[in-house]
Amino acid sequence: MSSDRPSQRLELSVGDITTERVDAIVNAANETLLGGGGVDGAIHRAAGPELLAHCRTLGGCPTGQAKVTPGFRLAASWVIHTVGPIWHGGDQAEPELLASCYRQSLALADEVGARSVAFPAISTGVYGYPMAPATQIAIETVRSTPTAVELVRFVCFNDEAMSAYQRALGEG
Ligand code: APR
Repeated sequence: MSSDRPSQRLELSVGDITTERVDAIVNAANETLLGGGGVDGAIHRAAGPELLAHCRTLGGCPTGQAKVTPGFRLAASWVIHTVGPIWHGGDQAEPELLASCYRQSLALADEVGARSVAFPAISTGVYGYPMAPATQIAIETVRSTPTAVELVRFVCFNDEAMSAYQRALGEG
């Protein structure tokens, strides 16, 4: 655990984001917002078909942006769907787009009044963003974004993610 702001805690947890008991969980979605594999598939399965029905009304979401829906059958009240960049080697604005995902997600959390938010390692699965720089951007962006969110939890799906976040937090 680590934090730069007295009012904000950053935590790491291990496992499946769909079981997190926080106000909002973040989904690593694609531009259609109509579901997929990885964390997106897990969230849609756990939230139930109402989530897809709701997402169909949203008209998609550009890369680097975010949209919010209810959590339906999840413990979390909200799902913030953000679209991370596909990794093309790093010179196609991937770092800026990834940082934007974290900023926009926190802005939406503020809009709906969520005080605790859990993030997956956006873009580091199917989208191929290398884990170390992705987790660094996640931590730096959350630390430097003004927000009323009090608790940010980074959910590690495997050991590689856990070590990368620990290093990015300065604990590794
Ligand atoms: N809980 C937490 N983390 C998870 C879970 C889960 N249930 N399932 C996978 N992860 C981790 C992966 O190990 C990876 O580190 O989330 C990270 C993001 O991986 P992806 O889900 O593949 O997301 P991303 O790389 O952003 O690719 C997005 O995948 O399924 C599609 O619709 C989605 O097209 C979009 C693309």
